Amino acid sequence: MNTFKEDHKPNFVTLNGKITKFNEAKISIMSPGFTFAISVFEGLRGYWNKDKEKLYIFRLKDHLKRLNFSMNTIELDHNENLNQFEEQILYLIKKNNIKDNIYIRIQVYADEWGSMFCKQPVGSSIISYPRPRVPGYFEGRRFTISSWRKNTEDTSPPRIKTTGNYFNGRLAGLEAIRNGYDGSIILNNYGCISEGPAGCIFIVREGEIITPSVSSGILESITRDTIIQLAKDELGKNVVQRSIGRTELYLAEEVFYCGTAMEIIPIISIDNKKIGLGSPGNITKKIQQIYDNIVFGREEKYMNWLTPVKFS
Ligand SMILES: Cc1ncc(COP(=O)(O)O)c(C=O)c1O
Repeated sequence: MNTFKEDHKPNFVTLNGKITKFNEAKISIMSPGFTFAISVFEGLRGYWNKDKEKLYIFRLKDHLKRLNFSMNTIELDHNENLNQFEEQILYLIKKNNIKDNIYIRIQVYADEWGSMFCKQPVGSSIISYPRPRVPGYFEGRRFTISSWRKNTEDTSPPRIKTTGNYFNGRLAGLEAIRNGYDGSIILNNYGCISEGPAGCIFIVREGEIITPSVSSGILESITRDTIIQLAKDELGKNVVQRSIGRTELYLAEEVFYCGTAMEIIPIISIDNKKIGLGSPGNITKKIQQIYDNIVFGREEKYMNWLTPVKFS
């Protein structure tokens, strides 16, 4: 399934800190980023508020903080270009002049020609392009439980946002599509819920909001963290972070999937078993609404999560 659209291709990207034409941005076929997936990344969203004519990037600093953690953990050297990511992102968006909802991807990798153990030279790329809401946002998606198990803290730690970890998600995602589902949930080695290929899972059970703990084999998702804070501050509910067994999903009134790209997606059935009434639940819809108001800059209280882009 290729979701790339030709008209989403931007004129410019940033390669090693320099604005470069999309078609001219190339990396070496021997770069360990390519040959051994010695590469980490971040995916962010920017939201175009039509009324205010402003584009806001959501939790930019938190994404850069996680990128820094990923780089340090897989031991990629820092160089001066990398300290200027915030500036580079803002400049690239301005240069492409895309006044729309966008996705931004920053990739940092071992560059040129090296072994899987090399720490430099380190290359970086940034791309920003229009990205609409993913399918299923309103109507929900039908998920399955994958037969693949999640990579673990002592094999390939899910907490690191490294390209290599996405192979596990690919297997799970392809299996789901092959079997006629819209997505999958991956269990960890204890048979409990970890996450999906590109997002975290929440359930609502007897009114309580529950999500797997950060030691369940998940990426420490920024959207997950946002929802935990919003549930407390806006709904007065403390999200419980604990192990969730597979069969507990079938008892839930609501299940939803979340991540930067996904935003918040209702899961309306799992393995063809209806969740609740088999339609998006009230708490899920409420959280979607609160999140939407915040990311588009309609909530003064949460403006500190947004970085505005200056186009002129
Ligand atoms: C494996 C995985 N888990 C969770 C998430 C959600 O993370 P975030 O909310 O920081 O985008 C993502 C999305 O990038 C992901 O790829």
